[in-house]
Amino acid sequence: MSPLIAPSILAADFANLQKEVEMLNSSVADYIHVDIMDGVFVPNISFGIPVMEAIHRYAKRPLDVHLMIVNPDNYLEAFRNAGAEVISVHYEACTHLHRTLQAITALGAKAGVAINPHTPIELLAEVIEDIDMVCIMSVNPGFGGQKFIENTYSKVTRLKDLILAKGAKTKIEIDGGVTLQNAPKLIAAGADVLVAGSFVFNSSAPVQTIRDLKEISSN
Ligand code: DX5
Ligand code: ZN
Repeated sequence: MSPLIAPSILAADFANLQKEVEMLNSSVADYIHVDIMDGVFVPNISFGIPVMEAIHRYAKRPLDVHLMIVNPDNYLEAFRNAGAEVISVHYEACTHLHRTLQAITALGAKAGVAINPHTPIELLAEVIEDIDMVCIMSVNPGFGGQKFIENTYSKVTRLKDLILAKGAKTKIEIDGGVTLQNAPKLIAAGADVLVAGSFVFNSSAPVQTIRDLKEISSN
């Protein structure tokens, strides 16, 4: 089965954002992954709503927005208005996760939950049916270009089992350190969506690299 590919714009050349978005439009990418970092939840600051609006102006793919911020509830509407189709909040940043998921769904967006490498997927058991997509972090969030954490495979398998056991329709996304090397194993374990930042944007032919990820990982 062919995975959905979500190139992360974090690794793009921000001085040529329009060109980079148009490159993604011309590729087989399924989403554009947008990493929002606040310098509090993660030790880095990326960009905010005006930049995301600029991306949305040119994007011909749905924006998959990954909020690495504290108090995400305060900004859900703003990100939805700025063009988010999927809004993922961090499990670790939400005291009332069920309420937050309802708020995202009420805005007409798909509700995502991202989990840090140390967070067991079992903590999502009671809300899995309310989640459209779980984003398993395969690096510690905050930076692109980090090394993939091998423990991720078993988390994917256990999450897939949980989804099947509950009869949920939740998609599994993997974020961090994804390459052509680990992609096939991630798909085999049950991943549906692969985020790839540096592997795509640092390659000499990003459009082809996106195609390779989509095709080779399904073999
Ligand atoms: C990490 C971000 C990722 C990052 C992935 O905090 O959430 O989306 O952009 O970049 P790579 O693919 O380079 O690990
Ligand atoms: Zn991300």
